[in-house]
Amino acid sequence: MPSPIALVTGAARGIGEAVARRLHADGAVVWCTDLRDAEVDAVARSLGARARARHLDVREEGDWQAVMDELLATDGRLDVLVNNAGITGFDPPVPHDPEHASLADWQAVLRTNLDGTFLGCRAALRAMRRTGTGSIVNIGSRSGAVGVPGAAAYAASKAAIANHTRSVALYAAQQGWSVRCNAIQPAAVRTPMWDPMFAGADDPVALEATFVADIPLRRFADPAEVAALVAFLASAESGYLTGAVLDLDGGQRAGLATPPAPSSD
Ligand SMILES: NC(=O)c1ccc[n+]([C@@H]2O[C@H](COP(=O)([O-])OP(=O)(O)OC[C@H]3O[C@@H](n4cnc5c(N)ncnc54)[C@H](O)[C@@H]3O)[C@@H](O)[C@H]2O)c1
Repeated sequence: MPSPIALVTGAARGIGEAVARRLHADGAVVWCTDLRDAEVDAVARSLGARARARHLDVREEGDWQAVMDELLATDGRLDVLVNNAGITGFDPPVPHDPEHASLADWQAVLRTNLDGTFLGCRAALRAMRRTGTGSIVNIGSRSGAVGVPGAAAYAASKAAIANHTRSVALYAAQQGWSVRCNAIQPAAVRTPMWDPMFAGADDPVALEATFVADIPLRRFADPAEVAALVAFLASAESGYLTGAVLDLDGGQRAGLATPPAPSSD
C-alpha cells in the first residue's frame, strides 16, 4: 500500500503542526505549508523522511498552483488536503465588532479563512479528479455556528466554510468521485492563536477558567485531539462521511452542564 499524499496548510504551529505530525505518524507523505518559512521548515525537518516544507500563502492563487504542480510532479497524486490556515483578526484593541470593524480588517479575515479555503478546495478537486478519490478536511470553528459580536468577520468566515464544505462534497459526489469533503468545528484549542488574549493577563489560570466556563468538559482541547479527528476523516475508516460539519467542542453545542440541583431527599 503506497503512502497517502497529504498537504496541510498553516502547518508551522498549533493545530496544523499537530495535524502534520499525526498524518506523518500514520504513514503519509506530508507537505507542510505555511507563511512562516523558518517554522514550517523546522516542523518538516523534525519529521524527517516523507515530510516536505513549502511556502504557501493560502490567499495566493500562484502559491497554490506552484505547490500543487510540484506535489503532483513529485508524488503523482493528492489524497488528503487539510485547509487549516486561519486568522482571527484579533489584534487588540482593533475593533472587530459589526459596528466598528473596518472594511479592510473584515476583508483580511475573509481573504485568509474563506478565500484560502475556496482556493484549497479548488486545487484539491483539480488534483483529485486524476484518481477520483481523496479527502478534504476544512477547519471551521464553533464561531461559525453562533454569532460572535467581538469577532464578526471570523464568525462569518467560519460559517461560510461550513457551507462551502457541503457544496464541495455534493459537487464531488455529482461527478461520481469518491472525493469526500468534511469540516471540523473546534471550540477552544490551546494554541498560539490564543496568545494575544492571554498577553498581559494578571492571572492566566483564572482567565483560562473564564474561557472554558461554558464548555461542559471545562478545558481547552489539545491540538492532538483535533489531529485525531482529522486523521479519521482522512482515512478510509470514514469512507461514508461527506458533507459533514463535526463539532469538536467539549460538549458546548449539546447545551449547558451546570452543576445538578441538590436532590430533595
Ligand atoms: N485554537 C482554537 O481555539 C481554534 C478554535 C476553532 C478553530 N480554530 C481554527 O483552527 C485553525 C488553526 O488555528 P490555530 O489555533 O492552530 O492557529 P495558529 O495561529 O496557532 O496557527 C495558524 C497557522 O496558520 C498560518 N497562517 C496564517 N495565515 C496564513 C496564510 N495566509 N497562508 C498560510 N498560512 C497561514 C500561521 O502562520 C500559523 O502557522 C484556524 O483555521 C482556526 O481558525 C482554532
